[in-house]
Amino acid sequence: MPRYLFDNNDARTPDRFSLLESSYDAVSRRQIESAGLAPGWRCLEVGGGGGSLGDWLGERVGPQGEVTVTDIEPRWAEERSRPAHVRLLRHDIVRDPLPGDGYDLIHARLVLVHLPQRLEVLDRLVSALRPGGRLLLEDFDCSWTPVLAAPDEAAVALFARVQSALMAHLEKAGVDLVWGTRAFRAMVRAGLEDVRATTHAASWHGGGAAGIGLHRVDVEQAADGLRAEGVTDAELDRFYALSRNPEFVVNSYALVSTQGRRPH
Ligand SMILES: C[S@@+](CC[C@H](N)C(=O)[O-])C[C@H]1O[C@@H](n2cnc3c(N)ncnc32)[C@H](O)[C@@H]1O
Repeated sequence: MPRYLFDNNDARTPDRFSLLESSYDAVSRRQIESAGLAPGWRCLEVGGGGGSLGDWLGERVGPQGEVTVTDIEPRWAEERSRPAHVRLLRHDIVRDPLPGDGYDLIHARLVLVHLPQRLEVLDRLVSALRPGGRLLLEDFDCSWTPVLAAPDEAAVALFARVQSALMAHLEKAGVDLVWGTRAFRAMVRAGLEDVRATTHAASWHGGGAAGIGLHRVDVEQAADGLRAEGVTDAELDRFYALSRNPEFVVNSYALVSTQGRRPH
């Protein structure tokens, strides 16, 4: 069975988590607020990574509420201090029994996209909601990453080559590259009501503090897989340089936030 590709034990993981936090936490917070988040809610944050959203949920629900943050490797989230009503669990959402039920809100960002068993996981998450509880899934659709500006045509071709090798490598590891847009139908089929989706994308600028750094850490961490797809070390070096070049701008992956309600 394929394993999660971007193992959290890798030294680049803190960079990935801080890039995800700075690129997407504001987007996710808006989505979570629009689900009706209120003091006293019981929330499950699946695959919580660095833990920033779980901690924010804890502040918003307050001590009358409860937040459970899970991850197969929670070592980075463990480094943050948190109040008693925010619980961090080493937990595999595919294999382990769910940590609870009757949740008001279940949120998972960039987790199900990686899991070949995503449809079974989706059904289990729905069953762990209280009637009227909300599920919010946020995942990439990786099919649309146009280059918006480049120093020359060779740079555009290099990005396309490395990106297509990365996508091939991710697919072999069980990633659904367009799960972000497939989630809507899957959530309707899983019995959720009032399903709606919002998509976020932004320009990622070479040398910028956030965004494009995700391409760089993904390619660095998957470099062996990319070599197996035929990408040379010289191309990888040129890709890293391109990601630091302010003349290069690419559209981010589309983050699709899809939420629905368990029927009463
Ligand atoms: C791309 S990261 C996203 C982290 C965080 N949700 C965010 O958006 O910042 C995916 C996270 O899912 C976790 N993960 C992968 N497979 C998992 C599983 N089977 N059960 C629980 N967590 C898992 C990984 O360890 C990693 O922390």
